[in-house]
Amino acid sequence: MSHLPDTPAAPLVASTGATSDALAITGRATWGSRLGFILAAAGSAVGLGAVWKFPYVVGQHGGGAFLAVYLGCVLTLGVALLLAEMTLGRLTGKSITTALRELGGRRWAWVGRIATFNAFAILSFYVVVGGWTVAYLMRVMTGTVLASDAERLVSEFSAFIADPVASLASMGAFLGLTAVIVAAGVQKGIERAGKWLMPALFLLMLLVIARAVTLPGAMAGIAWFLTPDFSVISGATLLEALGLAFFSLSLGAGMIVVYGSYLPKDARLASSAVWVATLATLACCLAGLMILPAVFAFGVAPNAGPGLTFITMPAIFAQMPFGHLVAIAFFLLLLFAALTSAVSLFEPVTAFLIDEYQWRRGPAVVAVLVATFVFGAPAALSFGVWSDVRIFDRTIFDLMDYTTVNLLTPAGGLCVAWFIGARIWPTARTVLDGTRAQWFVPVWRVLLLVLTPIAIFGVWYQSL
Ligand code: PHE
Repeated sequence: MSHLPDTPAAPLVASTGATSDALAITGRATWGSRLGFILAAAGSAVGLGAVWKFPYVVGQHGGGAFLAVYLGCVLTLGVALLLAEMTLGRLTGKSITTALRELGGRRWAWVGRIATFNAFAILSFYVVVGGWTVAYLMRVMTGTVLASDAERLVSEFSAFIADPVASLASMGAFLGLTAVIVAAGVQKGIERAGKWLMPALFLLMLLVIARAVTLPGAMAGIAWFLTPDFSVISGATLLEALGLAFFSLSLGAGMIVVYGSYLPKDARLASSAVWVATLATLACCLAGLMILPAVFAFGVAPNAGPGLTFITMPAIFAQMPFGHLVAIAFFLLLLFAALTSAVSLFEPVTAFLIDEYQWRRGPAVVAVLVATFVFGAPAALSFGVWSDVRIFDRTIFDLMDYTTVNLLTPAGGLCVAWFIGARIWPTARTVLDGTRAQWFVPVWRVLLLVLTPIAIFGVWYQSL
């Protein structure tokens, strides 16, 4: 592949740049339709972050107020960064490392490599929790995990995640499913998975919500979730909300860049970004409406933490009429959500090998699969046999979670914001040419160059 000159304004988008444009587009897989792209990107965004993490973090941070702050973050910085990453992919038709090198020169390629490593590292611990969803789905299907006895559920959950064979096997199964979808390619694999699994996910959520909100006592949960009490907001809440907003929109890992690189030339980026952000937010709200009313109806403390899904929900299902069926629907949707996100973490790493080293998709998928299993295994084992291994006072899983979500993801976001807003701004802004969103051009730049750094340095100041 020819490398373009180092100047930021060497525009891949200039109308006379037919050669580079054609170069970037021909031979590149593309989405079958804009809807396919939006659903795939939303499928990436809506994952364990929305369905598993969001409800318990809302539970820990005082309900409606957290929801309001989260919405504020998504609709401002979230949209701005989504659009920035899409722009990179769309301008070059390449995954993040190659894209940054083409537009910014060799040193910028390092930002891309780090973002790709970030995707790989997130994937490595994501598949651990993905494995739990596979295992719990099997268990609810065979009916073994539904019990009203909370203590038994806690000990079963702890025993399962500590068991090396069970956790590695379920992690392997989940990873294998992910690899199969990625191996099938962009349209046949990723797009099709998004088109089927996303609507199924939303339908299943509505089904579980219908059951949850009609439980006696559920109204208290809904009110708690939807009425903001701003007196409970602290600095920690603001920053937790920002971190979750980034993670739940899949920013900072090169994901949106690579999905954006499969867009046709005339794609409308701004409205796609708004759509993705809206669907992601909607999923968070639905997840809250699914879990919190049930939690209140059964008198469970909403701040129970990460176990809320795997421990509390089975207890609730056990006490519900038709609980068995609802439980199957619930774990199935959790699996779908996790799967489309894992696919989107797997793809940037695969595309990195394809774009940077001209690998074919098949071998690239196998390499990523093996590497992820090797890198993820210690994270899985850190809930059991290796739970004593502490690095900087954290277990291996926690360390991977912490460094990626709190350090690498914001760093990636910050670099992309700067790159788009300052380094290649004259070229970047052209993606909004000819749209009705002209008012957004200056707003976008302020969000990228002013608000993003303020917010991200805030997160770091808080978490370091
Ligand atoms: N957004 C996904 C989730 O909420 C996680 C993710 C992060 C996926 C970064 C891709 C890239 O589960």
